[in-house]
Amino acid sequence: MISYKTLGLVNTREMFAKAVKGGYAIPAFNFNNMEQLQAIVMAAVETKSPVILQVSKGARDYANQTLLRYMAEGAVEYAKELGCEKPEIVLHLDHGDSFETCKSCIDMGFSSVMIDGSHLPYEENVALTKKVVEYAHQFDVTVEGELGVLAGVEDEVSAEESHYTKPEEVVDFVTKTGCDSLAISIGTSHGAYKFTPEQCTVDPETGRLLPPPLAFDVLEAIEKELPGFPIVLHGSSSVPQDDVDTINKYGGKLVAAVGIPEEQLRKASKSAVCKINIDSDSRLAMTAAVRKTLAEKPGEFDPRKYLGPARASMKELYMHKIINVLGSNDKL
Ligand code: G3H
Ligand code: 13P
Ligand code: ZN
Repeated sequence: MISYKTLGLVNTREMFAKAVKGGYAIPAFNFNNMEQLQAIVMAAVETKSPVILQVSKGARDYANQTLLRYMAEGAVEYAKELGCEKPEIVLHLDHGDSFETCKSCIDMGFSSVMIDGSHLPYEENVALTKKVVEYAHQFDVTVEGELGVLAGVEDEVSAEESHYTKPEEVVDFVTKTGCDSLAISIGTSHGAYKFTPEQCTVDPETGRLLPPPLAFDVLEAIEKELPGFPIVLHGSSSVPQDDVDTINKYGGKLVAAVGIPEEQLRKASKSAVCKINIDSDSRLAMTAAVRKTLAEKPGEFDPRKYLGPARASMKELYMHKIINVLGSNDKL
């Protein structure tokens, strides 16, 4: 058993309480490799932001759970080396799919876990989440539960269509499970294709697809039921069209990729939404930079020469999210 506290990591409890009160959201960025992690830490330090490093099942399969844990420990030291005296870094399991997965992460030093029982019948979701909470809280590890189903297809997270969270269920769920935060479904979804063209309207000036708005009425109803309780939004990438255009210009083929407009995430950040999950935007920034560099310098074969620009581009993206969308800058 390794306690995250000895690794210099923190759980989400205090971080979320401050974020809800202060009207901002903590960035939860997924990482799978060193360049992403470096970019996240550099951005968090430069903006003086707390940050959540998220590890998905896909990431654990790709990079190895143990290695990712040591990388997160390294991230704390790296942040200090970059000049941050007291970094606030959470190592979080994203979309934990079983009690065993959550336990294994808790036992090896994660400071926060998500148990995603959103696809289960309600009572089974309650029972599973409660079991994880009871284990996690013995070690002061915080737990995110989920009610409602997000649409979208990712490696490990998939659903045909979304089902909004039912506001009338949230008090019962939180009370019975004891979870520390709740992920909800209000129209966001995973991946770079969040809406079909039929669900969107077309901007007459630019020809771009304009997605439908999030269900802020559902969010407000949930906030009324659970005043001040930390709410989480998954699937919150905005799918920057500049990156999509760059990818397509240099040989990619992303057709009708569309995300959540940043104004809507800015609005959500000011509410009880205190954790916003972003993965796809980082993938797009990295891919755009790699494709551009390799297209412009076809003789290049040193990975540092194309992963370096990719890292710089991701850092810029993370800083933009922190400062201009979530408002978590200057909070350390
Ligand atoms: O919520 C899903 C994340 O974007 C992780 O996706 O399983 O492909 O790593 P992944
Ligand atoms: P995006 O695919 O919108 O980046 O969402 C990521 C996410 O929710 C990770 O849990
Ligand atoms: Zn997610």
